[in-house]
Amino acid sequence: MEKLKITGGPSLEGEISISGAKNAALPILCASLLTADTLRLTNVPQLRDVLTTQKLLQGMGMRVMTDNVHEFELTGAGVDKLEAPYELVKTMRASILVLGPTLARFGEARVSLPGGCAIGSRPVEQHIKGLQAMGAEINIEHGYIHARAKRLKGARFMSDMVTVTGTENLLMAAVLADGVTVLENAAREPEVVDLAECLIKMGAKISGHGTDTITVEGVASLHGAEHAVMPDRIETGTFLCAVMLARGKVLLRNTRANILESVLDKLREAGAYIEAGDGWIAIEMRERPKAVSLRTLPYPAFPTDMQAQFMAMNTLATGTGVITETIFENRFMHVSELARMGADIHIDGHTAVVRGVERLSGATVMATDLRASASLVIAGLAAEGETIVDRIYHLDRGYEHIEAKLGGVGALIERTQ
Ligand code: EPU
Repeated sequence: MEKLKITGGPSLEGEISISGAKNAALPILCASLLTADTLRLTNVPQLRDVLTTQKLLQGMGMRVMTDNVHEFELTGAGVDKLEAPYELVKTMRASILVLGPTLARFGEARVSLPGGCAIGSRPVEQHIKGLQAMGAEINIEHGYIHARAKRLKGARFMSDMVTVTGTENLLMAAVLADGVTVLENAAREPEVVDLAECLIKMGAKISGHGTDTITVEGVASLHGAEHAVMPDRIETGTFLCAVMLARGKVLLRNTRANILESVLDKLREAGAYIEAGDGWIAIEMRERPKAVSLRTLPYPAFPTDMQAQFMAMNTLATGTGVITETIFENRFMHVSELARMGADIHIDGHTAVVRGVERLSGATVMATDLRASASLVIAGLAAEGETIVDRIYHLDRGYEHIEAKLGGVGALIERTQ
């Protein structure tokens, strides 16, 4: 099994190019199911979850052409297998995103019910309730969601909680429904906005995306389009935190400051010097960061996908930071591993109190989810000696060549067997 070996110490200096956003690319790839024409996508990140989605779509009959690893042409004329099998859904929960578009275009879909995962139980009942509100008949049988509707009907649906993929699934269903759909308490995440913009290029009539009320006027069919996937705000934030830990000065290219304001505010509070312009963010950090307190919440507040990386930053900060996770019930798995590196963290329910220490010491660590693994990598950059991060297939799901990008700015990091 592959591991990352990191020797802590060097500061980071130079430039990193940010990849396309995983959590925008996955729903947008699934949006190709909504038309028989070709959807051409650029800035697609080269990630294991993207490959899994490609495999899922090809299994359904989608023709997928790739000019290079970051450009896809998807043609849905031959889609005839309306199913996401357990074997793929169990490796990637985002497979649920084929449910809405498949049902909307073909009148039927069978998608394996995703189970729980390392960070929480993660049910999908809002996806199902929303589709039912639009007239779908849904049966859960043999571990599969079986949805049928000759043509979905526009409806008003108020979600019980803010759900990102739930909003995306219902948005993709509503674009081909008969009549107007209003999604209330919708997710405002930039990835939802990016999906909506791609759907609009395909002929969908959507307004209010980026607010908590999205209105969709259904159309009879969508057509082909070309779309560039937005930059990955979590990859951007992860590298910013890496500089907070390792110190130095790094320019991040192909990204945008306006998609991660809450993260930039917290980094400034921690003492970072940050500048941003059109398509770039620069960070400089020469001292020990000041501990920050935060609470994860839906966008535009602080993202749960950055919680572990800020925890890592706080471990070496001056003072004490209090971190509260409100989105997922089990997203503190990095805590015990950071403690093995010398961090002082006390957990009480959904809150972690992190007292900054003067040094971390390298250790062999592992994590069972993507962002937890990222937090261990960036902690390793600042720890004394060697850190081995095991089970890095989690990292490969969501970070494109993380070792090459960090190595390019001076980190001592290599992939080993
Ligand atoms: N929830 C329900 N019922 C539902 C849907 C959600 O109870 O029907 C709960 C979840 O269990 C969770 C909360 O609502 O407690 C929010 O979950 P959400 O549905 O928003 O999460 P998601 O759509 O499954 C996406 C990202 C996650 C990210 C979360 C929160 C994708 C593919 N995944 O997941 O990304 O953490 O939103 O922002 O977009 C990651 O990239 O590492 C990652 C986990």
